[in-house]
Amino acid sequence: MAPRVPEEIDVFTAPHSRMKELVNIYTRKMRCVDFRDGPEVVSLLKDLDTTLCEFKSHESIENIFIMDQLKNRLKQRQISNAAVCDCHNDNQLSDVGTQRLLCDYKQVVQLVRRGTQVRERSLGERITYGHQLQQAFQDFVNTFLPHMEEEEQVFQPLLVEYFEYDELKVLKEIVLKEHEVV
Ligand code: FEO
Repeated sequence: MAPRVPEEIDVFTAPHSRMKELVNIYTRKMRCVDFRDGPEVVSLLKDLDTTLCEFKSHESIENIFIMDQLKNRLKQRQISNAAVCDCHNDNQLSDVGTQRLLCDYKQVVQLVRRGTQVRERSLGERITYGHQLQQAFQDFVNTFLPHMEEEEQVFQPLLVEYFEYDELKVLKEIVLKEHEVV
């Protein structure tokens, strides 16, 4: 486990607390929702759509304000780091990073979009759809949680190594502010 860094320069833990809170909320909702109940499903999908946007924004903020800065710093110092190049490398999600996470994220987004016609479906189709959505969300969670863990355990130490304390303090303030305006 990477050594703990002072809270004021820890750019990942606070935003990740919010992301993990959302993951827990929707993991519970997915278990409880009655997919036979059209209005209940429509309400879940509406909320989930907003939350997926929040996940996407989180990744976008990290891309712009953390990963790009780290890449530039390593480039300036002519240091090559494969992990930095590979993480958050797919701009289509703007971005959830690894290909696996991107794929799982897109799967949930597609199902949420398809689910808007849930009222027009038969009972059996609703239940099948519910199982697909539950599985897709669980797959996404199973990649998103380790992804955040990697950021905290691998990328935070790199930031500490290659940035000054005051730079990271400012960076953290920016990252928190960007999350607030989402
Ligand atoms: Fe902090 Fe890339 O999730």
